[in-house]
Amino acid sequence: SKESKDYKNMPKKIYIRTYGCQMNEHDSGRVRDLFLAQGCSMVDRPEAADVVLFNTCSVRKHAEDRVYGKVGTLKKLKEKRPDMIIGILGCMAEAQKDLIFRKMPHVDFLCGPADLDKVPGIIGKIKRGAGHIICIEGYKKKKITAFPKKRTEDKNAYVKIMEGCSNFCSYCIVPYVRGIERSRPSKDILEEISRLADKGVRRITLLGQNVNSYGKRLKEKVDFSVLLRKIDKITRGRTEVDFVTSHPKDAGIELFRAMADCRSLSKQLHLPLQSGSNKVLKRMNRGYTVEKYKKLVKGFRMIVKNGTVVSDFIVGFTGETKKDFDDTLKAVKEIGFGAAYIFKYSPRPFAKASRFKDDVSREEKERRHALLLNAQKDISLHFNNVKV
Ligand code: 5AD
Ligand code: SF4
Repeated sequence: SKESKDYKNMPKKIYIRTYGCQMNEHDSGRVRDLFLAQGCSMVDRPEAADVVLFNTCSVRKHAEDRVYGKVGTLKKLKEKRPDMIIGILGCMAEAQKDLIFRKMPHVDFLCGPADLDKVPGIIGKIKRGAGHIICIEGYKKKKITAFPKKRTEDKNAYVKIMEGCSNFCSYCIVPYVRGIERSRPSKDILEEISRLADKGVRRITLLGQNVNSYGKRLKEKVDFSVLLRKIDKITRGRTEVDFVTSHPKDAGIELFRAMADCRSLSKQLHLPLQSGSNKVLKRMNRGYTVEKYKKLVKGFRMIVKNGTVVSDFIVGFTGETKKDFDDTLKAVKEIGFGAAYIFKYSPRPFAKASRFKDDVSREEKERRHALLLNAQKDISLHFNNVKV
């Protein structure tokens, strides 16, 4: 029968390599679980695998270059073993769809971040001779793709609460590869968390590209701070809960109060400022000023005792002058972040800013990157000293 033939054809050994954010880590875990449920096993080298998967990131050009490099080196292996299946999953499947097969014809299929539940099915089709497959339309759907409830757990678990982003920061590719924002019904989230807490998971990280705008287009009336309080009722005392990522324009008192009140909640807030120059913030379409951000942090520190704020920064954004960069340096010194992640700007396809000239030279980006890193290093040291 067709089933038994499929079974015989089913690949046995799967390799998955993940690039990018925690959302991608989570997605890769769910893909792994789909294969485990079918009796496949995971291997840790492409050479040992029947199916080689790369769950990819497009947030910076560097992340894409690494995948092109790595997958490029598999060409020889594929010539030796033409039965091996290579798939590009995640954001790059969306962003580079027109280029991947042209640059790397030894890739068999592309699968977008909102289509990952279909990966085993795609592999079945390829086994039956379907040729190149592209599956990338899922990000247009209004609902988040659901995976089976059964999952492998570590001590730390991720729970997706929303996906996609509707902020359209001018540097960012995310809305174009993950789609616009959509939230999971709170009932599903609470059920998942209660299952995880019962199993003794130590820490749960809530995931979303912009968790503060959780619930905005749901039928039920529940926003992020309400969700946090409901979660705390379930996890209280048993499991630590943290969340990424927050957007300053949607964060406020209600969130800070929930963070202060809820025992389970981590007191660390990831609140990316991105730049210390209002002119640059405006060009980035961030929707706040440095002054507003500082007020927010002040409020946070008043309400959440021992809270820390962690930020992301982009240096060398299109149009960023030395003066703008100095403002960023100044902001970092003034605000005092617990940690800062600093990135050199790279223009991304679809993003609005990619139409402007990438006018800060590579050397100058390097220089600003090093300067900001250094400034933050001093502050992190100071922070750690204050704590002990
Ligand atoms: N270039 C450099 N850094 C970027 N980020 C997002 N888009 C770009 C880009 N085009 C950074 C932002 C974001 C983090 C995840 O990556 O700082 O917060
Ligand atoms: Fe990279 Fe953003 Fe996609 Fe995460 S959502 S994998 S950071 S492009």
